[in-house]
Amino acid sequence: MNSKDQKVLVSTFEKEVYEGLTAFPKYLSSKYFYDEIGDELFQQIMALPEYYLTRAEYEIFTTHKSAIVQSFDKNREGFDLIELGAGDGKKTKVLLEELSENDYDFAYNPIDISENAVNGLVKNLNQEMPKIIVQGQIGEYFEVLDRLKHMSDRKKVIMVLGSNIGNLLHPRAIQFLKKLCNAMHDNDLIFMGFDQKKHPQKVLDAYNDKTGVTAAFNKNVLARINKELGGNFDLDKFMHWESYDPENGTAKSYLISKEKQTVDIDSLSLQVHFEAWESIHTEISQKYDDDIVKWLAKESGLKIVESFSDTDKGYKDYLITKA
Ligand code: AVJ
Repeated sequence: MNSKDQKVLVSTFEKEVYEGLTAFPKYLSSKYFYDEIGDELFQQIMALPEYYLTRAEYEIFTTHKSAIVQSFDKNREGFDLIELGAGDGKKTKVLLEELSENDYDFAYNPIDISENAVNGLVKNLNQEMPKIIVQGQIGEYFEVLDRLKHMSDRKKVIMVLGSNIGNLLHPRAIQFLKKLCNAMHDNDLIFMGFDQKKHPQKVLDAYNDKTGVTAAFNKNVLARINKELGGNFDLDKFMHWESYDPENGTAKSYLISKEKQTVDIDSLSLQVHFEAWESIHTEISQKYDDDIVKWLAKESGLKIVESFSDTDKGYKDYLITKA
């Protein structure tokens, strides 16, 4: 019998699916949306008319690229540009091009939990921007942060774009920012995108598109459990539901069981019972304003240096340093 048969090797995915589906209320992490199919669905989301975030940040970059890259390296001392959650790098390329054209001395380090995304991006950059030194890494934010400390002793600019921080509720965001702060030297920088509070309907629409791409994106975690853990979820028996609380700025996504049912997950030897209309919480997409970002920074030993906004102030990128 090998160790797999003995269930000694339990993946993080198995462990977290077990925990989330035996908890009350049930939950699954949105980080499991992203495999090859999930990456493709997220590409489609970024192109949706309702999903304003990507376009807003793209507008900020094209409008302010010169000021943004100057703020990264005021003294032209050279730096490593580290991007957590790099994805397809479409927005980042605007900055990379600006840096390259102005002969900044830098290397680009994209990091993502999706191996598929990192490999695609590195290959693409080697072809399209061969002059740029690119070193990709695969991993989760928290685990990758520990590696950061042991990288080069050059100045670091750490980018987290797309309001990816919004997947964390404030206490975990502070934990994450504190860890970043600990890995930073005094002149290192964070460049981070925060989607801003806005008309609640606009937020709801962004996460509840008419074509159902966002629903499929959320359901992809169930599809992955079926494929990778021997589950038998019937995806049609679940519906996607979105909520937004304008008081705390938290958009929450759920998958809701449309009927009473039982699902088997073979590799976990688990039967999961669902009552009719029982929910699985799948994602947080937090919305912010200047005061909240200032507070998050302060709680984490950091401070805001400056911010860049799109024209309708619906989205902001903040330059952040150690306090
Ligand atoms: C990539 C985490 C920023 O929360 O807005 C898009 C993911 N989920 N539509 C977000 C997402 C549903 C997105 N982030």
